[in-house]
Amino acid sequence: MTDLKQQLTTYHVWDKSVRVFHWINVLCVLALIAVGTAILNAKGLGVSTDGKILLKSVHVYIGYVFSLNLAWRLIWGFIGNRYARWSAIIPFNTQHRAQISAMMIGAKAGTPIGFLGHNPIGRMMVALLFLLLSVQAITGLVLAGTDVYMPPFGNTIKEWVAVDSSTVESIKPYSKEGVDAEAYKEMRDFRKPIVTTHYYVFFVLLAAIFLHLLAVIITEIKEKNGIVSAMFTGKKVFANKPFDSGL
Ligand code: HEM
Repeated sequence: MTDLKQQLTTYHVWDKSVRVFHWINVLCVLALIAVGTAILNAKGLGVSTDGKILLKSVHVYIGYVFSLNLAWRLIWGFIGNRYARWSAIIPFNTQHRAQISAMMIGAKAGTPIGFLGHNPIGRMMVALLFLLLSVQAITGLVLAGTDVYMPPFGNTIKEWVAVDSSTVESIKPYSKEGVDAEAYKEMRDFRKPIVTTHYYVFFVLLAAIFLHLLAVIITEIKEKNGIVSAMFTGKKVFANKPFDSGL
């Protein structure tokens, strides 16, 4: 009887920063989606004005954790291990094109090529996710100022809409006290494209998260390299030498 057991090699891929970022990000994004959905449906749910302010404030506090975590990961892209770096994430460069060719040759020959970092398709998806998350962080931080006068731009927005400098302190969310009507309208016009972007990117992000999960599950089932457990342990296993192991 032939021994069909294959020799598996374990590789350390995701460093601690990437793994911690990933799971904090998952928790924050889930919470932001849940509270964001409640904000969107506040009217239908019969939420009072104070309730809306509370929902938005909670959304913003979670948003701060989300934005700081994301900012750290964007920096880590310059200093992390080689799989965490932008050079291994940003698509359409020479290295990415070489990965695509190798993947296509492997697929045609019926011998799929393994990748330690993201495979070429995963790489495009991860780059898109970072882009969408960054847009939500930037637009969200501006909206935190225009909507509930929270940092980092809350005081600047208060000064913008105040009747004069003596009324700045009295300005509260959803109240007209101390607010100059014309300046307030100007501010609302300024925020319109920002809230529209935050709103539409939310739906694009939902679709991208769904595709990301689907792709991870399919890759795990087909390639069996332990990509799900790798986000906990950092390690992947391969029977054949992965394409990017000798970079
Ligand atoms: C993955 C990240 C995020 C998602 C999925 C998300 C989702 C949403 C959704 C669905 C809404 C309701 C949109 C609307 O009312 O038209 C909303 C509103 C809002 N978000 Fe976010 N958000 C994210 C990140 C952030 C961040 C980082 C902040 C700030 C720190 C933030 C601040 C706000 C504010 C202030 C509003 C109220 C805007 C308004 O209704 O006028 N969001 N968000």
